[in-house]
Amino acid sequence: MSSRLLPALIFLCACYGGLASNLEEAKNSHPTFVTALYYTEWSFYYNHYPIDIPLSHITNIYYAFAKVDLKSEGVYWGDESVALKESIPLIREDINSSLGARDERVYNNFTKTSSKAELMVSSTGLIGQLLQMKELKKGLKVSLAIGGENTNHVFERATSSEGKIERFCQNLVNTMRKHGFDGIDVDWEFPDPKSTSNLNSLIETLKEKLTFAEKENGMLPNTYLLSLALPLDISSLKTYQFETLRNYVTYFNLMGYDITGPWSERANYHSNLYSLETNSTSSVDYAVQYLLSKIDKSQLILGMPSYGRSFEGMGIGLPFKGCANVAGINQEQNQCIVNYHSLPPKDYTEVHNFTAGSSYAYSNKGLGIVFYDCSQAVRQKANYIKNLGLAGGFWWDSYGDNYRVKENRSLLYNFVDELGGLHMLKVNDLRDNFHVDDTHGTTASSYATQCSSPEVHVFLIFVFSWAFFIMVFIL
Ligand SMILES: *[C@@H]1O[C@H](CO)[C@@H](O)[C@H](O)[C@H]1NC(C)=O
Ligand SMILES: *[C@@H]1O[C@H](CO)[C@@H](O)[C@H](O)[C@H]1NC(C)=O
Ligand SMILES: *[C@@H]1O[C@H](CO)[C@@H](O)[C@H](O)[C@H]1NC(C)=O
Ligand SMILES: *[C@@H]1O[C@H](CO)[C@@H](O)[C@H](O)[C@H]1NC(C)=O
Ligand SMILES: *[C@@H]1O[C@H](CO)[C@@H](O)[C@H](O)[C@H]1NC(C)=O
Repeated sequence: MSSRLLPALIFLCACYGGLASNLEEAKNSHPTFVTALYYTEWSFYYNHYPIDIPLSHITNIYYAFAKVDLKSEGVYWGDESVALKESIPLIREDINSSLGARDERVYNNFTKTSSKAELMVSSTGLIGQLLQMKELKKGLKVSLAIGGENTNHVFERATSSEGKIERFCQNLVNTMRKHGFDGIDVDWEFPDPKSTSNLNSLIETLKEKLTFAEKENGMLPNTYLLSLALPLDISSLKTYQFETLRNYVTYFNLMGYDITGPWSERANYHSNLYSLETNSTSSVDYAVQYLLSKIDKSQLILGMPSYGRSFEGMGIGLPFKGCANVAGINQEQNQCIVNYHSLPPKDYTEVHNFTAGSSYAYSNKGLGIVFYDCSQAVRQKANYIKNLGLAGGFWWDSYGDNYRVKENRSLLYNFVDELGGLHMLKVNDLRDNFHVDDTHGTTASSYATQCSSPEVHVFLIFVFSWAFFIMVFIL
């Protein structure tokens, strides 16, 4: 008997050993991080397309924003033609700038396997291009963001009855599936205390419907992402019931910016990591510490600005008149917003303040000051995220950053570099990848069975154990 049992045992052990070492590798591997960008539909008018996003450096994209139709609790686009119909070439004249060719790995893979004709292929709308990008980078997750700035009244009305919540969630999940998105990002800015339970119901119902969709598509549970944008302001944060929300939400996206703006009394940092005065609650760290007592650190993504806020007047913490005079740079009207890729303005000097954990540029001629995060600020924040074990970082928005490699100013690249390089980024499970099924207009999963997933692993332990007992019995 032993002569026959031994080879059988060796065979089973060898099989199992292979699996175990696979799992061991996964267990011993270092922590990895999410890097996410909001892509805004209106970026189209600035000639900034989804494909301009450096694929290799990001794990997630949020498409901003879908809107809520209050008559039907339906979902619609700011500009439907741009979102779904406009013909947008995947590759522009300069393939390298189009493909974000600083993505050497993606670039090489792409050009090796694709013909010029394929590269020139146009998509139908921005959302079509995002789908093409998921083919270029397997595992890239694209969520549909709904809501946006000053949408409290919209969400209030869309959640004012059980029936409305039900219809709204169903419409939202249908839209997500129809267009091949990987999740939903709720940007309810911001619920007031009387909406606390409506927000809970909205999130619970959404999760229920996402779970149902996963079952229908044969996906693993929690494949679809459900994220929620959060304000930095501590009194606003206190209106959220995290003990409920944390059971359903994959990621909380903390909007770590806009602490100051044209509405403020004094010019100051708008994304400072640390408080500027003793006992001040106006800092990123203050909100993060509060949240860490409410949710799991792996659920928290730290948001950073790829824009500055300008002030006319010369002092940090001093009164100001209006937007700074930054000659030649367009500022969002009345918002005093300057994109990072235009910073620092000509004749301004950039300073990073480690104590504040943010940066600014001041006019050498005394014209004004712009507060923003420079590359050193994101490096400081990358270390902060690493040290606290947060899920990662995101930026509002993809258009603002400066991706010109030679200048070495990119917020995203410096962030990833400080994390330790591309291998520090979260690799989304390829089995989660799915595409729009043209024949049915719904999403279909394209799983490949892999031995290294924990679920499969446990299942195989079970199978092997039984196989062993049966063999012993027969022999
Ligand atoms: C484009 O980028 C690739 C990869 O970085 C590089 O090898 C190639 O020389 C670049 N081509 C041009 C025209 O700049
Ligand atoms: C490039 O292709 C190889 C082989 O298909 C794959 O393993 C690798 O993940 C790809 N790299 C990127 C960055 O897409
Ligand atoms: C840096 O920020 C701290 C805290 O707000 C402040 O006390 C200090 O003066 C700032 N330093 C510079 C160079 O701006
Ligand atoms: C900060 O708060 C603590 C506790 O509330 C208080 O004892 C202290 O005096 C405050 N410090 C300042 C500078 O306001
Ligand atoms: C880019 O700048 C940072 C400092 O901000 C520096 O640490 C890094 O080495 C630079 N990278 C390159 C490629 O020059």
